[in-house]
Amino acid sequence: MEHSRHEGATVQSVTERYSAAAFEREEALCCPVDYDPKYLKIIPQEVLDRDYGCGDPSTYVRSGETVLDLGAGGGKICFIAAQIVGPEGKVIGVDMNDDMLELSRSAQPTVVEQLGYDNIEFRHGRIQDLMTDLDALDSWLSARPAKSAADYKDLEAHLAKSRQTHPLITNDSIDVVISNCVLNLVSDDEKPHLFQEIFRVLKPGGRIAISDIVSDKDSPEHLKNDPELWSGCISGALTEKGFADALSQAGFAGVRLDKLEQTPWQVVEDIEYRSATYVAHKPSDTAMTDEEIEVIYTGPWERVTDEIGLTYERGERIKVRGTDANRLRSGAYADHFVIFGEENDSNSCC
Ligand SMILES: C[S@@+](CC[C@H](N)C(=O)[O-])C[C@H]1O[C@@H](n2cnc3c(N)ncnc32)[C@H](O)[C@@H]1O
Repeated sequence: MEHSRHEGATVQSVTERYSAAAFEREEALCCPVDYDPKYLKIIPQEVLDRDYGCGDPSTYVRSGETVLDLGAGGGKICFIAAQIVGPEGKVIGVDMNDDMLELSRSAQPTVVEQLGYDNIEFRHGRIQDLMTDLDALDSWLSARPAKSAADYKDLEAHLAKSRQTHPLITNDSIDVVISNCVLNLVSDDEKPHLFQEIFRVLKPGGRIAISDIVSDKDSPEHLKNDPELWSGCISGALTEKGFADALSQAGFAGVRLDKLEQTPWQVVEDIEYRSATYVAHKPSDTAMTDEEIEVIYTGPWERVTDEIGLTYERGERIKVRGTDANRLRSGAYADHFVIFGEENDSNSCC
C-alpha cells in the first residue's frame, strides 16, 4: 500500500470525532443495522444511541468462545456477544478512545448486573498494535514523565519489555475476532500490520467475522486527505477485493465475502461505499504434515483455485499435503471437499 500524506490529520480527526460521538449521537456516522432485539434489552440506552456500526458480526459468535471486538466503541457488540458466549466465554473490547472507553466501561456494571455474570473487559489500545496496553503506559508515564532524550530512551526500553511480558492481547488466545466499522479508520500504512496483528492473536483454527465499509473502486488521495471523509468511515475503506486480498496476504485461509449490501451507504465522486462482512480463519496447525492425503472438490464450480494457487477440478481426486488437507477441512472450505482418511469416513456404508 502506498504511503500517503493524510496520516497525521486523519488520525487526529478520528480521535476528535469519536470523542464527540461518545457524548452525543452523530447521525452521519450511523448506518442502519437490525440487531436481534432480544440481546438489546439489557443494554443501556446511551450505548444503543451511540451505535456507529455497519453490520452485526456478533451473529458469528458461539457459546463458550473467547471473543475480541476491535474498536468496541460504546460496547454494544461486546454486550451482545457477552450474552451469546455465556458465562463460560469471554469478551474483550479494545478501543483507543478515552471517551468511548468511559462510555463502555460505565455501562458495563448495568449489563453485568442483569446478566448475572461478568465476562467482559474493555482494554485501551490501538488495534494496529495489540501488544501495547495504553492504560499501563499511562500509569508508567504518570510516574515517570518523559522530559528528556534519556527519558525517551527509558520509555522505549520499557515499552519493548512490557510488550513482551504484558501484551494487551497475547498470541494465539482468541477464538473469534470481530469488528464493526473500524478497520477503515486505520491509516493505509498501518493496515497490513493490523491484519497481521489479528492473525497473531487468534488461536490456530480461530476465525474472524469483520463488518466494515468497502468501496467498489480505489479512493483517490484527495478523498483520503479529507479528515471528514476519513473519520466518517468513507475514504479509508479498502476495496471489496482489497479487503479480501489483505486477509489472504496476512495468512488467513477460507477468506469469504459473506455479506455485501446491494445499496451503497454513501456515494462520493462516483465511488460507492457499502457495508460488507468478511469471514476467514487462521489455519489450524494440528496436522502440519507432509503426508499426502486424497481430496475431491465437490463443486458447484467446474474448477477453483485456493489462496496458495492449488487448483481443484470438480470431482477429480487429487493428492495434497496433509497441511493443505487440514486447511480444506475448516471454515468455508469444509462443505466443498471430501477429504479421505477422515475419521468419520470409515464405516460410511452399512
Ligand atoms: C465507527 S466507530 C464503531 C464503534 C463500534 N464498533 C460500534 O459498532 O458502534 C469506530 C470506533 O473505533 C475506534 N477506533 C478507531 N480507530 C481505532 C484504532 N486504530 N484503534 C482502536 N480503536 C479505534 C473509535 O474510537 C471508535 O470507537
